[in-house]
Amino acid sequence: PKLDLGLEPTKLVAKVPFFTKIGAHRISEIASMLMPRLVVPGERIINRGEPGTAMYFISSGAVEATTKYQPVRLGSGDFFGELALLTQEPRSATVTAISYCQLLVLQLDDFNRITSAHPYLQERITEVAGKRLDLDMLI
Ligand code: CMP
Repeated sequence: PKLDLGLEPTKLVAKVPFFTKIGAHRISEIASMLMPRLVVPGERIINRGEPGTAMYFISSGAVEATTKYQPVRLGSGDFFGELALLTQEPRSATVTAISYCQLLVLQLDDFNRITSAHPYLQERITEVAGKRLDLDMLI
């Protein structure tokens, strides 16, 4: 039998509640655009100030986003790296793994494809991004 490391994108996508809401039949379509990436504790995933080329969904584990003002912890089911893609500004924070994390990476052109094909995803991502921007401005 095939060795199952739990890395099959469809299974990982199913762990992100955000995706399950859009319906099972679309999950495989989306899974085909997501690249699994395992990161180790302490690994830097995003460097503040760099241009953004991808966003990330956390299927397990936790990361810390070090914004200019305060660190924010994100975990299973959360996503990050969306701001630079939406605003076309440099990365607003450095994001570091604080445990082993199984991530799903969505490259910029697939991000554009997914968000135009699935308005629900576009709205959810924009809503969360808006709150983060407000928070980063306020603090
Ligand atoms: P981006 O700016 O592309 O890269 C750094 C990421 O850190 C950013 O996207 C967000 O996903 C995340 N981030 C920045 N500020 C916050 C915040 N206040 N709360 C949660 N996540 C944040």
